[in-house]
Amino acid sequence: MPGEPPKEYIDLYFLERRRIVEALLKAKGMDEISDLIYKNSLLLAPTVATCGPAGVNAAPFMLSFMVKEEYLEEAVGKMKTIIDEMYGKGWRAMLEAAKFLLDYVYNLEKSDPLTLVSHLMSKGHTYRNLVDNGRATISILIPPDRGAFELRTRVEIVEDGLVYEYANLLHDMIHVAPEGERSHPWYPALVFHVEEIYDNSFQKLGVKIYP
Ligand SMILES: Cc1cc2nc3c(=O)[nH]c(=O)nc-3n(C[C@H](O)[C@H](O)[C@H](O)COP(=O)(O)O)c2cc1C
Repeated sequence: MPGEPPKEYIDLYFLERRRIVEALLKAKGMDEISDLIYKNSLLLAPTVATCGPAGVNAAPFMLSFMVKEEYLEEAVGKMKTIIDEMYGKGWRAMLEAAKFLLDYVYNLEKSDPLTLVSHLMSKGHTYRNLVDNGRATISILIPPDRGAFELRTRVEIVEDGLVYEYANLLHDMIHVAPEGERSHPWYPALVFHVEEIYDNSFQKLGVKIYP
């Protein structure tokens, strides 16, 4: 086993993401929510760099964390219930989604900070490079300059099963259920297994901190 994820990564990225959701739950209205999302957009959608037949490429992706295998079925069931019960219920749906995120996705007991997840909406450069070699590097800046991490990852494209459902239900719970309206179909899940972490802050300048 490569060992535990580094403390600075957990504090500055994983727990910071949790703090954003906690702040969303306490927000007094849409202005405050928009402000939070604006300030934290770099944390929510880091840059994913790939390399291969489509060239050296970089694109922002909405990334989240995978729950541990033993909680996956339970998490998928809960998300389905939230989506069913909260469909079209706007603000209430957002609150239920936020509670789920705190209970599962940003909870170290149930979630795996070294496995990130997204879904792949197009078959562009990122897709072509990943199909070729399954490697990606995620660049995360903790704004404004509190930290920076480089995650070197092995990527799986998953087109069915619980992981596929998890990635798409996460999206639906946050973006489809509140409005009660779907703008696009489900897409293949992207699962990023973090193999190495570098601290790219200006204090550390690229020191390897994991494994
Ligand atoms: C804020 C933001 C978040 C994005 N999130 C995703 C995502 O989660 N999944 C995805 O497939 N594309 C996402 N995109 C689009 C990709 O960044 C990119 O446009 C797409 O992969 C095509 O570029 P490529 O050919 O370089 O891969 C996002 C774009 C932005 C601006």
